[in-house]
Amino acid sequence: MTADHAPANAERLVDDHRAPASLEIIPILGLPEFDTATDLAPEIVRAAPWLRDEDVLVVTSKVFSKTEGRMVAAPVDPDERDALRRKLIDDESVRVLARKNRTLITENRLGLVQAAAGVDGSNVPTDQIALLPTDPDGSARKLREAITRLTGVHVAVVVTDTMGRAWRTGQTDVAIGASGIAVTHPYEGGQDAYGNPLLVTDIAVADEIASAADLVKGKLDGVPVAVVRGLRVHDDGSSAAHLVRPADEDLFRLGTQEAIAQGRVEAVRTRRSVRHFSPEPVDPDALRAAIADALTAPAPHHTHPFRFVWVRSEERRRALLDAMAVAWRADLTVDAKTPESIDKRVSRGRILYDAPELVIPMLTGDGAHTYPDSRRNAAERTMFTVAAGGAVASLLVALSARGMGSCWVGSTIFAPDVVHRELDVDPSWQPLGAVAVGHPAESHPLREPAPTDEWVIER
Ligand SMILES: Cc1cc2nc3c(=O)[nH]c(=O)nc-3n(C[C@H](O)[C@H](O)[C@H](O)COP(=O)(O)O)c2cc1C
Repeated sequence: MTADHAPANAERLVDDHRAPASLEIIPILGLPEFDTATDLAPEIVRAAPWLRDEDVLVVTSKVFSKTEGRMVAAPVDPDERDALRRKLIDDESVRVLARKNRTLITENRLGLVQAAAGVDGSNVPTDQIALLPTDPDGSARKLREAITRLTGVHVAVVVTDTMGRAWRTGQTDVAIGASGIAVTHPYEGGQDAYGNPLLVTDIAVADEIASAADLVKGKLDGVPVAVVRGLRVHDDGSSAAHLVRPADEDLFRLGTQEAIAQGRVEAVRTRRSVRHFSPEPVDPDALRAAIADALTAPAPHHTHPFRFVWVRSEERRRALLDAMAVAWRADLTVDAKTPESIDKRVSRGRILYDAPELVIPMLTGDGAHTYPDSRRNAAERTMFTVAAGGAVASLLVALSARGMGSCWVGSTIFAPDVVHRELDVDPSWQPLGAVAVGHPAESHPLREPAPTDEWVIER
């Protein structure tokens, strides 16, 4: 199909951004070894007197590392050189995203995410290590302006570095600096020749140019500069900084292992007591999975002395809570509370009626030892109770780690007979409260760790 069949605006888009019929990619040969004494623009003009308007000059970043004094003297001894390399990577990085064996993926001050913060010992003398230029966009701009000053020719400049890609093996060159060229080519809001909406297509042209130029530069041939000729160069004032995806838009801002590790560390702090739930139903499989996790909690003597009674019948839940309210009112009346005060307290139990799901943790005590004296029997009982409490706490964390909120409410502890009767469970089982479960009505930020200065006693 051709653009003839596409709607008028698509035709315009296709026309505006039509690809050139052909491109030339020309290596610039005969450049000298660079160092801080090199004046780059005249050297390029001398080696490529044929430069013309709209040429894109593609320059390996190492050229600027050398001319801008970003080469670091390094010991020849491999261990010492490696130690220096690690220190330089550390200095150049603002954040480590991922680490595997010797590979370190970092973000540098410019936001560039790549292996080893661009610290590079290749294509440099063995007693040196290259750091990336500090401002590659600025380097590109200065070179472009200098070439215009010397020749009157208006070129664009792209500064490149070699990077690996997530999901793909192998490396390609990308643009880390650019001047005089729109670094992306957005199609957003347009349509392709078939009439399909182009929702998010935003071609990273500067990266494509960097990669294309690498085809003639090569890594071993000592050709650090090439020209891409034939593009319709359009300067929108953008620079390679625009190609850095902001961290909060980055779906992969951590390596997989690092993200898993962070999730584990934060899991406990995702929990808080949630007392208001959204109407969204709880996925029964997710709740069952959270209970399964909680049942792995430690218990004395390799026992499993706790059960979770998941109250799934609405009638049974209402009967249980109504009967508990009656028992609670009786207790509060004995306490000589006023009717208003009793109503107020009992109304706090609404959460157990309203929560999408209700789970009653119970201590069976199965496997507890019996001793000849009451002191040890009481201690044994405490031991099993704390174990069951640990299982309940595990349930709350397992729920929050799965995005569900919960509140552990103690009331069933005060009405065991009612619980046995209404839930039809073994009368020796001890209810340990009730867990209201649902999706939180509002989201909460991750909580801070608790202070340890007063609450951790070190002896
Ligand atoms: C055994 C136990 C019983 C609790 N009983 C109630 C309760 O009856 N009603 C309630 O709203 N919260 C109850 N809570 C929740 C606490 O109030 C809550 O954990 C505490 O305020 C700390 O807040 P956080 O869970 O958000 O960290 C109970 C917690 C535990 C461990």
